[in-house]
Amino acid sequence: MGAQFLIVTVFLALASSLAFASDPSPLQDFCVAVDDPKDALFVNGKFCKNPMLATAEDFFRKGLDIAGNTSNKVGSNVTQVNVAQIPGLNTLGVSLARVDYAPYGLNPPHTHPRATEILTVLEGTLYVGFVTSNSDTGNRLITKVLNKGDVFVFPIGLIHFQFNTGHSNAVAIAALSSQNPGVITIANSVFGSNPPISDDVLTKAFQVEKNVVDYLQAQFWVFVNGKFCKNPMLLTAEISAEGTVYSRKTSNKVGSNVTQVNVAQIPGLNTLGVSLARVDYAPYGLNPPHTHPRATEILTVLEGTLYVGFGLIHFQFNTGHSNAVAIAALSSQNPGVITIANSVFGSNPPISDDVLTKAFQVEKNVVDYLQAQFWVNN
Ligand SMILES: *[C@@H]1O[C@H](CO)[C@@H](O)[C@H](O)[C@H]1NC(C)=O
Ligand SMILES: *[C@@H]1O[C@H](CO)[C@@H](O)[C@H](O)[C@H]1NC(C)=O
Ligand SMILES: *[C@@H]1O[C@H](CO)[C@@H](O)[C@H](O)[C@H]1NC(C)=O
Repeated sequence: MGAQFLIVTVFLALASSLAFASDPSPLQDFCVAVDDPKDALFVNGKFCKNPMLATAEDFFRKGLDIAGNTSNKVGSNVTQVNVAQIPGLNTLGVSLARVDYAPYGLNPPHTHPRATEILTVLEGTLYVGFVTSNSDTGNRLITKVLNKGDVFVFPIGLIHFQFNTGHSNAVAIAALSSQNPGVITIANSVFGSNPPISDDVLTKAFQVEKNVVDYLQAQFWVFVNGKFCKNPMLLTAEISAEGTVYSRKTSNKVGSNVTQVNVAQIPGLNTLGVSLARVDYAPYGLNPPHTHPRATEILTVLEGTLYVGFGLIHFQFNTGHSNAVAIAALSSQNPGVITIANSVFGSNPPISDDVLTKAFQVEKNVVDYLQAQFWVNN
């Protein structure tokens, strides 16, 4: 009995120290700190209402029986029910969405940076899939055909889609493990950002000529999943530091090479929530647009000049005539990497033409051309 009590006490002590060992997860894309409170907006979660003043209305929303209008270019519509619609969801780590699909409608490839999704089909037949992050085995495409009553999981941060393969409408309900999961629609984010990502970056990332990039950028992107980042910011980091001894081979199509130092290389990082990478860039080398499903990144330039950008999907481009080197620290022991070009156009097996032509609003030959490129697994 005494020993049992001791074990329980030790376990609780460990559990509570673990619970306080790291910072809380973000609840929005970013929250830049300010000194002067009058410039501030409290967004990491929301202010809390006095519990004595809470009413049932704070936890209530009606109208999810009403279908969204699917007469748009992709033929789908997502009705979100998150903390913006139900204030009572604040700090509770969960939300919901209703997704309507016209016949052959597509919820195009996208990721939720802050949530895992569990989807259930109420009506119709959906072809669904997600692509694993970059790894030795490549970007694996995992797919399934779902019928009424079927349930499927899309792990946090991974690129996924649903396509209505049937002649009639389909409806699904998605639950998400965040009060504000966020949505990054790949086509919109990469080819429809405001301002546009430069041609130098996109031609190298997708290994195609400028006219193909211009053609993709010229498409009209449907904001099916609500808003995404409208104020892309440019970061610059200039810190002098001693160069490291080893340089990596950057003689590949994108002209860059990432050397990862995560839990796979240092087992002691397990549970510690941090890792590192060294990035080498040839002149005009590009670390192509990618995301880390499980981490924020803080990057320091050791040498050279980099043009960098993000809308959560981010990249670095060496604009100089000489090599560049950077060190990136990441807030996960295993941040994962999803290179957009590889994941969308180079997955194994390939994502179907039906999905990609609709998602990128281009003809089959453009998709086939993009898929035919050789993707560097950086
Ligand atoms: C989704 O449906 C709502 C309600 O019918 C409509 O107001 C909205 O414009 C639709 N969104 C898209 C992207 O079609
Ligand atoms: C759906 O949207 C289309 C295009 O915006 C519009 O013409 C149509 O009237 C809408 N349908 C309904 C039922 O609101
Ligand atoms: C990165 O550099 C290492 C060491 O030079 C090399 O073995 C590897 O093939 C390179 N990776 C790429 C993607 O070029």
